[in-house]
Amino acid sequence: MRKIGQFSMLDKAIACLDHGLRAVFLDDSQKATTYPARNADCPALSKEERSRSVRLMRVNHAGEVSAQGLYLGQSLVSRDTETFFSLMEAANEEKEHLHWCEIRLKELEGRVSILGGVWFLGSLCMGVLIARAGDDWSLGFVEETENQVVEHLDNHLFELPEKDVSSKAILLVMRSDEARHAKNASSRGGRKLPYWARKAMQFQAKIMTTVASRI
Ligand SMILES: [Fe+2]
Ligand SMILES: [Fe+2]
Repeated sequence: MRKIGQFSMLDKAIACLDHGLRAVFLDDSQKATTYPARNADCPALSKEERSRSVRLMRVNHAGEVSAQGLYLGQSLVSRDTETFFSLMEAANEEKEHLHWCEIRLKELEGRVSILGGVWFLGSLCMGVLIARAGDDWSLGFVEETENQVVEHLDNHLFELPEKDVSSKAILLVMRSDEARHAKNASSRGGRKLPYWARKAMQFQAKIMTTVASRI
């Protein structure tokens, strides 16, 4: 069996599978332990405010589903054990983001995007393809993705209803985590992506956020 550092491909596949099962099958009480809005005193939202929050949080949930696909795909094909661990560590935090968005959508009586499987599988394939170019490009991709997510979260923090302090509390913690993921990827040797690649990523993200906000 091919060894990558001290980790074989089978070891990595098992770690990714274990992570995926925990992301999907954790019960609600466990998901809520780190929920940033558990102590937020959110006033009642009007129908219009609630539907705006649902639309935005559904987009964020879809983004976190994609993050799981990307990180797992990149982890599987990573060449260096250190890179593998750093990607899995970030994927673990992204898993919490995913659960927080899910909890908030339930509180708002909203639903997740029906295209979750598409976002996950599309991102998983993209993560594998990118990581095949090498760990430096893979980490550069993480840095650029996370920077774009920070910009996106800034827009959502502005667009959310003023009263929706619970969703804002969640996005603020996510924003801080995403910025740290970008910084870590850069410090681990991420290469800056060419202009056309950054623009293509923005275009792809635009399609996903537009579709996920509706279905
Ligand atoms: Fe995230
Ligand atoms: Fe992140």
